[in-house]
Amino acid sequence: MTDPLRIGIAGLGTVGAGVLRILQGHGDLIAARAGRRIEVMAVTARDRSRDRGVPLDAYAWEEDAVALAKRGDIDVFAELMGGHEGAAKDATEAALAGGRDVVTANKAMLAHHGHALALMAEEAGRVIRFEAAVAGGIPVIKALTEGLAGNEMTRVMGVMNGTCNYILTRMESAGLPYVEVFEEARQLGYLEADPRLDVDGIDAGHKLSLLASIAFGTQVDFGHVELEGIGAVTIEDIRRAADMGFKIKLLGVAQMTGRGLEQRMQPCLVPATSPLGQLQGGTNMVVLEGDSVGQIVLRGAGAGAGPTASAVLSDLVDIARGNRLPTFGQPASTLRQARPAKAAVPAPYYLRLELFDKPGALAKVARVLGDSGISIDRMRQYGHEESTAPVLIVTHKTTRIALDEAIAGFAETGVIMGQPVAIRIEQV
Ligand code: NAP
Ligand code: HSE
Repeated sequence: MTDPLRIGIAGLGTVGAGVLRILQGHGDLIAARAGRRIEVMAVTARDRSRDRGVPLDAYAWEEDAVALAKRGDIDVFAELMGGHEGAAKDATEAALAGGRDVVTANKAMLAHHGHALALMAEEAGRVIRFEAAVAGGIPVIKALTEGLAGNEMTRVMGVMNGTCNYILTRMESAGLPYVEVFEEARQLGYLEADPRLDVDGIDAGHKLSLLASIAFGTQVDFGHVELEGIGAVTIEDIRRAADMGFKIKLLGVAQMTGRGLEQRMQPCLVPATSPLGQLQGGTNMVVLEGDSVGQIVLRGAGAGAGPTASAVLSDLVDIARGNRLPTFGQPASTLRQARPAKAAVPAPYYLRLELFDKPGALAKVARVLGDSGISIDRMRQYGHEESTAPVLIVTHKTTRIALDEAIAGFAETGVIMGQPVAIRIEQV
């Protein structure tokens, strides 16, 4: 057996401690698979006195992540701290500059600095691996960079934030409003320290931007991910959408279109019977579409110590085996700067309106839609509640611009109360 792969771990929280637990429990198994042992030389975190639930006495302790990254006795720096600036970025850069490979779970850092870091790694002849950064335990980076390398990818999509999927499915199953389930998720410890990262779609948007880079050979462009969170999703829309055969998901979609690269993370309707529609609780699902392979669906835990550490180990074993892949699946210097699409490709939409009980009201709505070039696919009107009745419309494919024009037109009809709700229906 050749020399061990020597690693330094910065960050001993959920993920870092999980990695130590696997290495301590499966050292022989991993050595047999990798052809060499993986040995932890040194670790660091902020608070040395905290009990991590795993023994640390066999490892040297460094007070500072940058100092750990520069140690002469490590081959790989494992950045498991988080945060897109500060210690994580400084230590990652120090590791690459000093000739160490990097394994990270940090989607925020890579979404903001991934291309620059990949260039830096390439110039230094090092690798950055980040399986744990997207969809936790699901080996989606490996699937895209290796398993599907022979495909022109046509679309990448998925539910990549377990907390949001938990909130949306719990709202439906318990019939509770968003604010109550949000509070429940907070008490269960599901939410990030800054919950906006989850519920505003930022965390999932980070992940989508990384997948898009690999899938389309483009530089990571988080700045052009269209982001919309789940805070405005109501229990009423969840129920009405279900009546029409749909589920509401915080869905990420990236596709290369004639109009440029489209990257969206927003609440969408998907067919209730589809794999995405059936996804319950905090689970993640990534759907990959390639010209030769067709559609691949990957499902599994997107967070938690075990699944995330499992993904970190996959990267470490690859490096131990000498499997040295470029960060985003091809040399960083060959990644193109994508032209961001200004508008999403046309899609059907779900519309919910509160219609006044007046003769000809529905005809006026239909006329406004027709004037904007929007055709109705299906429609349902419910019984009147006092003076208004909820009306649901599923349109044929249309653009968001045409839809917004129609919504502005509704205001002038005098037959609609309040603001209509419009949600894109993604064809999956
Ligand atoms: P965590 O439980 O909060 O742990 C973070 C660790 O980093 C802690 O041990 C903390 O030290 C240490 N740390 C923070 N700032 C530091 C600094 N400046 N210098 C040294 N150590 C520092 O976080 P986590 O959940 O393990 O997440 C780690 C990374 O994995 C993040 O990038 C996260 O986005 C990513 N990730 C997490 C999950 C998940 O399920 N948790 C899933 C996928 C990806 P103290 O313990 O002493 O405070
Ligand atoms: N907050 C994330 C989620 C954790 O809920 O999916 C893993 O990235």
